[in-house]
Amino acid sequence: MKKKRIAIDREFRALCPPLAQDELELLESNLIADGCRDPLVTWRGILIDGHNRFEICERLGIAYRSVPIKLTDRAAALQWIIVNQLGRRNLAPYARAELGMRLVPSVETQAKARQRLRTEGSVSARNLPPVHTAPAIAKRVGIGETTFEKARAIAAAAGELGAKTIAKLRRGEVTIAEVHRGLRADQKRAARAAAPRSLIANDGSALRAGDWRVVLADVDQVDAVITDPPFSAITHDGAARATRNDGSGTIGLAPSFNAWTDELVHEFVSSLAPRCRGWMVALCDDNLIAAWKAAYRAAGRLAFAAVPIVIKGGGNRLVGGGPASDAIYAMCSRPRTKAFASWSALPGHYIGSRSPESSGGRGKASWLMEALVRDYTMPGDLVCDPLAGWGSTLIAARAMGRRAIGAELDTAAAMKGRRRLELVAAASTEVAA
Ligand SMILES: C[S@@+](CC[C@H](N)C(=O)[O-])C[C@H]1O[C@@H](n2cnc3c(N)ncnc32)[C@H](O)[C@@H]1O
Repeated sequence: MKKKRIAIDREFRALCPPLAQDELELLESNLIADGCRDPLVTWRGILIDGHNRFEICERLGIAYRSVPIKLTDRAAALQWIIVNQLGRRNLAPYARAELGMRLVPSVETQAKARQRLRTEGSVSARNLPPVHTAPAIAKRVGIGETTFEKARAIAAAAGELGAKTIAKLRRGEVTIAEVHRGLRADQKRAARAAAPRSLIANDGSALRAGDWRVVLADVDQVDAVITDPPFSAITHDGAARATRNDGSGTIGLAPSFNAWTDELVHEFVSSLAPRCRGWMVALCDDNLIAAWKAAYRAAGRLAFAAVPIVIKGGGNRLVGGGPASDAIYAMCSRPRTKAFASWSALPGHYIGSRSPESSGGRGKASWLMEALVRDYTMPGDLVCDPLAGWGSTLIAARAMGRRAIGAELDTAAAMKGRRRLELVAAASTEVAA
């Protein structure tokens, strides 16, 4: 009976990290000497394991067997190949990380499903631990979480680094840490050349327009990070649907910027924690509390219980059939050093009124930002807010005798932040004169 031809799928093939020349030669001589002893594996007639053996056997006319396996769909087949590769071969850390990157969509779907169960499910479902994509994948592929994050940064810059470097990484001839160090140095140089500085004060305070990853790449050390990132998708959606009590329509609280996820929290903390000498304080809604704690801990910091902040007259969040909540939380962490262990006791909550200027998630109340700056920094410290919006943290920092640096992605918001910051700078110059 004529053997059914095995099909090769380019995406499946690309998932199998290539063998080095000497490994290929060894495999070929083994196949010539002993024949192809282990069967190739197929799914719906497509090869999913044994690409190198298949190519050699076909070329040299060596007989082989194949076994079909049942998998529900293409996604399951991709997952099978990745897990099979990870289990079978002595892969270099970068090759393992690349396989891990292919798992991101399926683990993200799992993380979202878990998050939904935790917020909407039964009491027992609410006790399920959250799934954090990057740490979960790093564990599965057997490399450290920081190494995985560095590998992701390298993959994102693969075009700049060139095919030769990536091939060396895949073969383990250079380490992820070495390539990442070089990449960060290059990015810092580029950021220094390109970053729009617009320093608004001669003390170096600045609000840079752009993505914090880029425009703050050259900022090596700050004394504190105090920031107010976007909230979770559940809160953003709730804010968009919030209606007035009198039924006259929606309140229009929906932020114009994208919601945050556990992954963005982890990326933020893993990039900024090594550059922050002191406290990191981030505002968040209740859906992201666990992610902040986990990210701080993964970065080796001491993470504290969520500090509730009640903004009286603030917009209702988490609407839609459930109780609304006016509370947000400050997630605080500090370095595990003796110097910080003796920091004075800090408030367990903050309560105050909404700023009349605040709208669409921007323009946080000055009393709150000043309280955070007062409690978590010292006079003269450099305070960083990489998600500055209209600059409320930077303004509070300047007003309280700290230096400030920040970034804002949205150009219009950054311009407004700079104008607000300039007013404070001008006022303090007048007082000084
Ligand atoms: C909640 S708002 C901050 C509001 C600010 N605390 C204030 O009082 O005006 C979060 C801000 O993060 C900004 N943002 C989101 N992703 C960013 C990124 N990658 N780089 C810089 N800014 C970003 C959004 O445009 C938004 O203005």
